[in-house]
Amino acid sequence: MHAQAAFAPSTRITSVNQLPGDLLDLGPDAPEMDAEEQIENTVMSFRANLVLHMGFQKALKEIARCHRLGRYRIDEPNCLLITGESGCGKSTLRKTYVKQFPRYEEVDRTVVPVLHLQLPSQPTVKNVAERILIQLGDPFAEKGSAEGKTARIVTLLRECRVELVILDEFQHFVDRSSEKVEYKVADWLKSVINESKVPFVLMGLPRCQRILDVNEQLRRRFLPKVALQRFRIEIAAERKQFYSVLRTLERGLPFQSPSALTDKTVVPRLYYATHGVIDHVMKLVSEALGIALSERRATIDQDVLRQAFERAIWADARDQDNPFHSAFKQRPLSGAGEPFYGYR
Ligand SMILES: Nc1ncnc2c1ncn2[C@@H]1O[C@H](COP(=O)(O)OP(=O)(O)OP(=O)(O)O)[C@@H](O)[C@H]1O
Ligand SMILES: [Mg+2]
Repeated sequence: MHAQAAFAPSTRITSVNQLPGDLLDLGPDAPEMDAEEQIENTVMSFRANLVLHMGFQKALKEIARCHRLGRYRIDEPNCLLITGESGCGKSTLRKTYVKQFPRYEEVDRTVVPVLHLQLPSQPTVKNVAERILIQLGDPFAEKGSAEGKTARIVTLLRECRVELVILDEFQHFVDRSSEKVEYKVADWLKSVINESKVPFVLMGLPRCQRILDVNEQLRRRFLPKVALQRFRIEIAAERKQFYSVLRTLERGLPFQSPSALTDKTVVPRLYYATHGVIDHVMKLVSEALGIALSERRATIDQDVLRQAFERAIWADARDQDNPFHSAFKQRPLSGAGEPFYGYR
């Protein structure tokens, strides 16, 4: 698919376009505070927009597929693992999917088509079971033995007509330093999947893969896998995607004049400034929008981006560390003490 096709007009960000066109010219009578508030409002609305880039759409499609197949209630439902580095949009994906299937009340029950939750930082069978029971509305979530809780989960998943479960922060099942996997909880999860026949989508950092590597029974159930990645401009297809994201954002800006976001010389700078991580892209461009509006600039240029980088990404950056400064020599800012340390 061509990169541009991922941003059909109906799916690209829209609301910034709908803001009042006179933001840059608030008029002589507009009180100072109101202008500031309007700018904040514009920036926050811009920031809240969703960019349906290709990786995000692909992941949404895979969740939908898993959900559809789950309705057949086969003995070993097909599950899905979605991994991605911090800020690449896993939780945003979860919330976006779940929004389409809100829970609703019937006379005798609450129907929860998609159950979703974040796993606790130190998962045990007890605390994970409790969290699931709370989400299912069990008033006695903390009561009973592990077996009793598991049985209630299976019953409630059926009673609440749960069709799909999404568990976020699955990397908590793997200890960060020792890479030790919580086998007990992983085994328990497998038995809940089997007994309930409800497909599970697990999301987390790339080290989640380790859980499947060491647990063949879970591994069999989690095919295919999806990675929600940062955009790496070394790879041509991803460079195109990154450019598409920037063009989408550019179209959402409330300026008459074009911004520098899609300039050939600025795109690589934007990459180094954000490491290709969508979270940093949104932060940087939103900050730049705020600066441009406050300083009553005609658009976002490289100088605005330079300031935005300092404010939103790296406050202590020296000139040679700021991708929008002429002294910057192209390099990833992923050394120790730099903003993208720890990213692969
Ligand atoms: N597709 C998107 N469009 C616009 N903004 C996005 C998108 N994906 C993520 N973001 C922005 O990035 C921020 C971080 O995303 P999110 O919390 O989903 O990342 P994550 O992968 O869950 O990270 P972590 O592993 O740290 O939990 C979001 O608050 C949102 O502002
Ligand atoms: Mg998250």
